[in-house]
Amino acid sequence: MKLTQNNPIGIFDSGVGGTSIWKEINQLLPNEDSIYLADSKHAPYGQKTTTQIIDLSVKNTEYLLSKNCKIIVVACNTATTNAIQHLRATYKVPFIGIEPAIKPASLNTITNTIGILATKGTLNSQLFASTSNSLDNKVTIVEQIGEGLVELIESGKLVSDEMTTLLKKHLSKFSQLNIDNLVLGCTHYPYLIPQIKEIIGNDIAIIDSGFAVAKQTKRVLEDHNLLSNRLKTGIHQFYTNTEKNALELLLNRIDVSIKYLDF
Ligand code: DGL
Repeated sequence: MKLTQNNPIGIFDSGVGGTSIWKEINQLLPNEDSIYLADSKHAPYGQKTTTQIIDLSVKNTEYLLSKNCKIIVVACNTATTNAIQHLRATYKVPFIGIEPAIKPASLNTITNTIGILATKGTLNSQLFASTSNSLDNKVTIVEQIGEGLVELIESGKLVSDEMTTLLKKHLSKFSQLNIDNLVLGCTHYPYLIPQIKEIIGNDIAIIDSGFAVAKQTKRVLEDHNLLSNRLKTGIHQFYTNTEKNALELLLNRIDVSIKYLDF
């Protein structure tokens, strides 16, 4: 198959969280068409083994390639840190991934202590280990698994008493340990920023990689001569293999199509 400039950008996540990345891409590249896969039936990926995460990432990639996507954005830290090397070695299409931004946070920190909230699968991955080992060793990384957060967002309970209780539990460590930068290492978490700020206050910088991923997507499309040359606004198709509610809630737009797909 020949990839051409006006083919869609393919994006997948274990569920609805990758829409935080889709929004950044759409804002930066409004003329690009896109296809987004929310594999919510298999969320959370963060509790699965590396082999399972690779298998699911392959399934999602195959579907997006069957729709002639010109580039695949793995809008999931867990899938990126566990599967992107396999995907890049298997398929010719360019892949963009997302990893927790601990490097920029380590350059920003004054207290030399940064926090990271991510899934178990991301924090246990080899890619995360090698990035953390490459940081200046005077920087301490305080890790916290965001257990249960993805599940609540997937079930439409983004703002709920359960969410407040769980967030307070997960964030308590950070307030005690003098961190000045908190890295959000999961694409579901940017939707929690207002609630996180209410708990930890405004003195801790919250770092997420969404805009950086959009810029990288643009750069790679340019390098491959694959940027759309259309002048009209892109067409966007969203697919989910569960109920549409959580996607509708987060997208909050009527100009995109959301369909059920059994995948
Ligand atoms: N959005 C995914 C991520 O960035 C969530 C992972 C999961 O499903 O556990 O890691």
